[in-house]
Amino acid sequence: MAEVASVHILSSTFIVFSLLFSSCFLASEAVSKAGDEETHDVFGRTLDPNQMGLKKEKLSHFRFFWHDIVSGKNPSSIEVIRSPIKNSSLLLGFGLVHMFDNRLTISGDINSKLVGRAQGFYAQADMDELALLVAQNFLFLEGKYNGSTITVLGRNQILNTVRELPIVGGSGAFRFARGYIQARTYSFDLNTLDATVEYNVYVLHY
Ligand SMILES: *[C@@H]1O[C@H](CO)[C@@H](O)[C@H](O)[C@H]1NC(C)=O
Ligand SMILES: *[C@@H]1O[C@H](CO)[C@@H](O)[C@H](O)[C@H]1NC(C)=O
Repeated sequence: MAEVASVHILSSTFIVFSLLFSSCFLASEAVSKAGDEETHDVFGRTLDPNQMGLKKEKLSHFRFFWHDIVSGKNPSSIEVIRSPIKNSSLLLGFGLVHMFDNRLTISGDINSKLVGRAQGFYAQADMDELALLVAQNFLFLEGKYNGSTITVLGRNQILNTVRELPIVGGSGAFRFARGYIQARTYSFDLNTLDATVEYNVYVLHY
């Protein structure tokens, strides 16, 4: 008899607890849902930038070196689409596509401090001259920029002294990013086609 009673007490305590917890859970879920949606049944609306913590837009400058390594045992840049054009007077045939995950370092030496990575592709997109379509994300690995990205999309005439590539956006520290990059070839090996390029990044962000 006593055993049955204690089982009863235990199970009712369990029911009370589970009711308490599940209602807490439901309440917190309701709060987070309300936080996500804020206003119901509204598709688009105007927000106050100050309330989103967006204070003053600032201009930042970054300088680093981009290493396009196509040769050796551990290339960071790989031909994923071969040009269908056999006899091209261009260094890279029209349509060629390279996918890369290139090191970004503080100096021209590839073994110097790693500050980020450039991930994307370039494609020979000009029928007459050497000009690449470049799409890449810079993933920063340094200090307060660690984990933030800058997205670059542009045309790169790689034989020119200075090339300019637009910054079209960013994430993390670079939300709302816009700006441009000046790229200058630092070294280019005609045999291996390995290239190191100096990047000067000018970016407006919050
Ligand atoms: C290859 O291109 C060069 C330069 O444009 C041209 O002189 C040559 O005839 C071409 N060869 C073939 C096989 O098409
Ligand atoms: C950057 O972030 C990663 C992952 O969040 C962490 O492992 C790494 O130590 C950080 N690096 C620096 C330099 O803060």
